[in-house]
Amino acid sequence: MEFEVTHRCSTTRARVSRMKLAHGETALPTFMPVATQAAIKGLTPEQVESLGITLILNNTYHLNLRPGTDILNAAGGAHLFEGWKHNMLTDSGGFQLVSLSKFTTITEEGALFYSPFTGESTILTPEESISIQHAIGADIIMQLDDVVPSLLQGPRVEEAMERSIRWLDRCIQQHKSSEKEHMQNLFAIVQGGLDSSLRDRCLDGMLERRDQVAGYAIGGLSGGEEKGVFWRIIKQCADRLPEDRPRYAMGIGFAEDLLVCVALGIDMADCVFPTRTARFGVALTHKGPMNLKLGKHAKDFSTIDSTCPCLTCREGVSRAFLHHIVTHETTAAHALTIHNIVFQAQVMGQARDAIIAGTFPDYLRSFFSGYFGDRG
Ligand code: GUN
Ligand code: ZN
Repeated sequence: MEFEVTHRCSTTRARVSRMKLAHGETALPTFMPVATQAAIKGLTPEQVESLGITLILNNTYHLNLRPGTDILNAAGGAHLFEGWKHNMLTDSGGFQLVSLSKFTTITEEGALFYSPFTGESTILTPEESISIQHAIGADIIMQLDDVVPSLLQGPRVEEAMERSIRWLDRCIQQHKSSEKEHMQNLFAIVQGGLDSSLRDRCLDGMLERRDQVAGYAIGGLSGGEEKGVFWRIIKQCADRLPEDRPRYAMGIGFAEDLLVCVALGIDMADCVFPTRTARFGVALTHKGPMNLKLGKHAKDFSTIDSTCPCLTCREGVSRAFLHHIVTHETTAAHALTIHNIVFQAQVMGQARDAIIAGTFPDYLRSFFSGYFGDRG
């Protein structure tokens, strides 16, 4: 990959960079919409492209279950299978250790997943996670990490952090032994829970391997911890991660969190939140989230946001209409998914513009006063 920091904020640690991958260039900081099952729910790849999105996230665990590597290899990778022309990042399956924890057991060899349907178990090893990600062909691939819930304390957090370093080495070996090494870029994931000394030890270990990884993620957060603790860990990690590599905060999607992360030096983030909340009838706006299920929208014929450049708002789709269809038509989910993806892209795009213009602190002030200010 080519990665170049082009602008820095003189007040915060925020920066703008250019990341060039095999499927084009993506400006950072950016938010990656999540396409768990190879598609962003409700949208075609052409629609996603038309929203200006150049980097999406897919999941190794889900794509390995369906369609599986045979079909992905036969298709020539997930880009061709999905019809997605731009950049793609795959998460390794590590997060499913937490999200599917009822069905998993962890060993040094790898993660055992039990099928809730058949009771059969399959093991996902670090080597296999990388092989599957090679079959998928994502431009950025993630190491398999041992993930524990962010609020967990005690020896298991330390064990998971140390195992994540050992698994990084196995992922590096697997990646190096493939001809895909030069087309796909492996990122390490810093773990260590909410404990600063564990995070420092993980950073020590992972920074020793800096010549073997293209970028770094910060994992194990956004699981119900207090904001102050979350910010402290992001800052600690971002401060120590190399200036010349992208920094990715995993599972972060609230606009206010994205902007704080950007101010602390984060370049990339992902979360199902904006697209999932759209399917629940919530539009994200610069004045905070708007729940279209509420009766107060029944006779409101204005659009979600008169300044929003998204197709839904430009076509004049009203709050009243969205309220009317939100509980029984998939059209509402499509319209709100489009709006929310554009909203996230706009928050990050405006952050980039402000960093370039030298006005990022002003942007933060105006965003936060609008988002949390008096509704009037
Ligand atoms: N998504 C959100 N958090 C994490 C994490 O800690 N590890 C991985 N692999 N994915 C994540
Ligand atoms: Zn809109």
